[in-house]
Amino acid sequence: MKINMPITQREQTLKDSISIVSKTDAKGMITYVNREFIEVSGFTEEELMGSNHNMVRHPDMPPAAYADLWDTVQSGKPWIGIVKNRCKNGDHYWVDVCITPMREGGEIVGYISVRKKATREQIEATAALYESMSIEQSFAASMLRKFHDYRHSISIQAKILSIFVMVALTSLMLGYSGVHGIVQSNNSIESIYKHQILPLEKLKIINDLYINNIAATGQKLQRGIITSAQATANVEQAIATLDKEWKAYGAAPHSEAEQKLTGEMQPLFDTALEAAVLLQKIIATDDLDRLMTFNTSDVYKAIDPFTQKLTELINLHYAGVADEYGATEAKYLQQRNVAIGLIVLALAICGVLGWNLNRSIMPRLREISRDLLTKAQEIDNDQPDLQSRYRDELTDVVEAYRSLKTRLDFDHSETMNRVNRLKSALDHASVAVTLSSEDNLLIYMNHAAETLFQSMASVIAQHHAGFKCREDDRYANRTVSGRCSGS
Ligand SMILES: Cc1cc2nc3c(=O)[nH]c(=O)nc-3n(C[C@H](O)[C@H](O)[C@H](O)COP(=O)(O)O)c2cc1C
Repeated sequence: MKINMPITQREQTLKDSISIVSKTDAKGMITYVNREFIEVSGFTEEELMGSNHNMVRHPDMPPAAYADLWDTVQSGKPWIGIVKNRCKNGDHYWVDVCITPMREGGEIVGYISVRKKATREQIEATAALYESMSIEQSFAASMLRKFHDYRHSISIQAKILSIFVMVALTSLMLGYSGVHGIVQSNNSIESIYKHQILPLEKLKIINDLYINNIAATGQKLQRGIITSAQATANVEQAIATLDKEWKAYGAAPHSEAEQKLTGEMQPLFDTALEAAVLLQKIIATDDLDRLMTFNTSDVYKAIDPFTQKLTELINLHYAGVADEYGATEAKYLQQRNVAIGLIVLALAICGVLGWNLNRSIMPRLREISRDLLTKAQEIDNDQPDLQSRYRDELTDVVEAYRSLKTRLDFDHSETMNRVNRLKSALDHASVAVTLSSEDNLLIYMNHAAETLFQSMASVIAQHHAGFKCREDDRYANRTVSGRCSGS
């Protein structure tokens, strides 16, 4: 690192309209400087040409700033920053610098730099920043700075992507929870059908067979409503079906309470079934007295204990249906609340992300368009360029604009340099030169022409009354206006 001495810490005040321009080759050796660079720095053109810009490096500038400068411009991007430069006499001046690479066939062949006067706010903020960079910072302070830098360097694309990911994740989670809920409901309906409705159907068949095919058949036969043959068929069908349905019911999976009750009912079922076998025998013997006894007492003594327990078992199944429905409803409510929570959370996160995206784009876009319009429309336009802490795509656009402006400023400076050199050569040429506009108005004359007209003024005045060549501004700044007049 080059340490230039002496330094006076005296600040040079720059003109508002100043534009300090320089150009280097790809290695950073100066190949062009404009007049303002020479005037402000105090170095001669000969001293500057072929040298590195570190000639004007101020020792207060942190090396990290230049490391960043070179990293940026060598990667082909423009570098924009506030720089404190040292004058030859040790004074300093603050400038808002834009350095941009120049390419030929895609290769970087050099760099151009245009420096404008930095504003007081820019100077104060940058001086504080550079000072903090040179002081050892506490861990918390450096982490906080890194966090702020990181927050401002998140790209707009990443912000848009994060909203998209958030929406996609929420949709996925909601979709999963919806499908999962449907599967759970379906499982629950299937379970209710298999474990409650189908067993209930069997129990109903068993109950109906005892009531209709056994008890009612005895009564109907006694009253002569049906024949013995019909009664026999009823009872036979009942015996065959009762056994089958009861076994099928017993084989199906049941809750503990149902299994316990079924076990208790088995002897009652056997007794009830024996009653059916007894009725079968009574019908076969055609014993009406025995049938009456059977109808009035035997059948109820045998069947009632079983059908009472059967009602208990049926109620157990109803309770099972209610329990399963309750559990399903509780799950549904839980899932519904989770889904609502997810939607609210996703809306809140998307809202924050969207607000942050909007905040990092819209005000800056408005500021940029306002700034560009002001620069395009204002006649006296020395307004400083926009500075932003963000390092995203919008920053790239602004920097590309600054890069273009730097290029145009540089071209303008170079053209003016050539014009001034030409004018200076013409001014001092020994041959008299005058230039006229398209309307034949005199717009320029050099010293030799002026002297010529001065000497011929009296002769010309004889032919053109009123002709005179003014002497008042003879040595004034010679630009383009004619200084001789006449009719
Ligand atoms: C186009 C261009 C313009 C530069 N302008 C300056 C400048 O105004 N002041 C400055 O100190 N360094 C400037 N630099 C950076 C110097 O080349 C150098 O890296 C810096 O002064 C640090 O010097 P050091 O590496 O000897 O410490 C410029 C570089 C380039 C390519």
